[in-house]
Amino acid sequence: MITLVRRIPELKKKIKQARQRRKVIGFVPTMGAFHEGHLSLMRRARRETDFLVISIFVNPLQFDPKEDLQRYPRQLKQDIALAKTAGVDLIFYPTARQMYPTGQETVLDIPSLTDHLCGRSRPTHFPGVLTVVNKLFNLVEPDISYFGQKDYQQALLIKKMAVDLNMNLKIKICPIVRERDGLALSSRNRYLSPSQRRTAPCLYRALCQARQLIKKGERSIPQIIRKMRSIINAEKKTRIDYLNIVNPSTLTDLKRITRRPVLIALAVYVGRTRLIDNILI
Ligand code: PAJ
Repeated sequence: MITLVRRIPELKKKIKQARQRRKVIGFVPTMGAFHEGHLSLMRRARRETDFLVISIFVNPLQFDPKEDLQRYPRQLKQDIALAKTAGVDLIFYPTARQMYPTGQETVLDIPSLTDHLCGRSRPTHFPGVLTVVNKLFNLVEPDISYFGQKDYQQALLIKKMAVDLNMNLKIKICPIVRERDGLALSSRNRYLSPSQRRTAPCLYRALCQARQLIKKGERSIPQIIRKMRSIINAEKKTRIDYLNIVNPSTLTDLKRITRRPVLIALAVYVGRTRLIDNILI
């Protein structure tokens, strides 16, 4: 039986009951519009915990004013059905009013980590993510919470927040789920036209090319980046937002491959849709 909870007092009651029954609480926060990426996190959480809570909340705080908040896909009925197949016990599906009743004055940030990669072009995004995830953790009180490597910077920030604020929970990062042609699954892929969809795997192709080059002994990062850029720029209607090879703990740029692992991360506009991907090598 799956329970759908809209209001905070009812959520707290259910969580308290689970705690009293000594259940280990697993938690997967999401913005809905489920695909295999989301479901892989839920299935893993199902295996590793006793009481599986997910949240579906399209968080206004993490969208820039001119971003796609209004057009972000919403499909609650289908999401409930998919969550059922993944063995979810409880879906927390709050309104913005429940989450931000009096306006949100307290905002979290980790400037040394937000000022890189996606944070550069979207400065209010990660403070919005950290703030909502912190609120959700306070409400759900999970023992283990699951995030995807797809949003590497997000996962790193949340791990750091949990350590810095002495949060009593474990964060687990799960692998990126991809289409057969390598495109990382994303709720935003549905914005792509058929021809853009054919273009989109160039992000993953560029990442694979980098892996190949490093395997063959290439150590110069400008060289690797140049080859990656040429793969993406060869495709019509693409525009690179960023493409960086960085230290995976600090997200600072590297000049040469002198350490392992390195993180290669990129964001590319395909038409008007911004896609992100990354690989740890
Ligand atoms: P959302 O984009 O819905 O993603 C929810 C979770 O699914 C995130 O941890 C994300 O990294 C993971 N995910 C998305 N695509 C994936 C893929 N192809 N493979 C594996 N995991 C994937 O990320 C958010 O929501 C929000 O920022 C949130 C954390 C819920 C805060 O609002």
